[in-house]
Amino acid sequence: EKFGLLAGKQVMITAGPTREAIDPVRYISNHSTGKMGFALAAACYAAGANVTLIAGPVSLDTPNGVKRKNVSSAVQMLNESMQMLENGCDIFIATAAVADYRVAEVAEHKIKKAGDELNVALVKNPDIVATIAQQEKRPFMVGFAAETRNIEEYAAGKLVAKKLDMIACNDVSRADIGFASDENAMTVFFAEHYQLDKRDLEKASKQEIAQQLIEAIHDALHR
Ligand code: C5P
Repeated sequence: EKFGLLAGKQVMITAGPTREAIDPVRYISNHSTGKMGFALAAACYAAGANVTLIAGPVSLDTPNGVKRKNVSSAVQMLNESMQMLENGCDIFIATAAVADYRVAEVAEHKIKKAGDELNVALVKNPDIVATIAQQEKRPFMVGFAAETRNIEEYAAGKLVAKKLDMIACNDVSRADIGFASDENAMTVFFAEHYQLDKRDLEKASKQEIAQQLIEAIHDALHR
């Protein structure tokens, strides 16, 4: 018997960057470390949930009690998420910094240095959180947004466009929070029908922020 705010809930969390191959030795990626997603996984487990982490390439240890699936590309992350969804999922939390584009045609062999310019065509990646939000048996959907300006406007837009239940947004123009930082500050918005006011989560450790996000999820689920 489990106790806690998320007792008995099935939680799935995407975390880290994705890696999009260019050729057998090169890739496109970003600076996401996966810290927020891993902190959330640990906190959800501590809150009584059954947690699966779908992790891009990160150098973090799997939190105690958490199941982990490693993936590399955005397409793999989507496929793994869809597969895990079959096992049942109550809450889906998308913290991954998914590459927006992937290379249209991955070169079979290492691209050789030649002319002064090299053009690589990119195609759009699927939106993982939006795809899952469109499924018939959709979990409670939580997204994240990193913005440098018009934070509220963009966050509210993504909440609607991706059909999310909740979105946590941070200001990445601030050097003291986000990405590789151990601290974060966020504003949380809920889908309109929950009739819950936005919440400002003051600058705190990613562990403390994770705890407050769990409280926000719990409050929305019990409206
Ligand atoms: O649109 P944007 O990338 O800012 O949205 C961020 C949110 O959407 C995050 O929760 C992120 O994990 C999710 N996302 C996703 N698949 C993508 C792009 C973003 O799940 N291809």
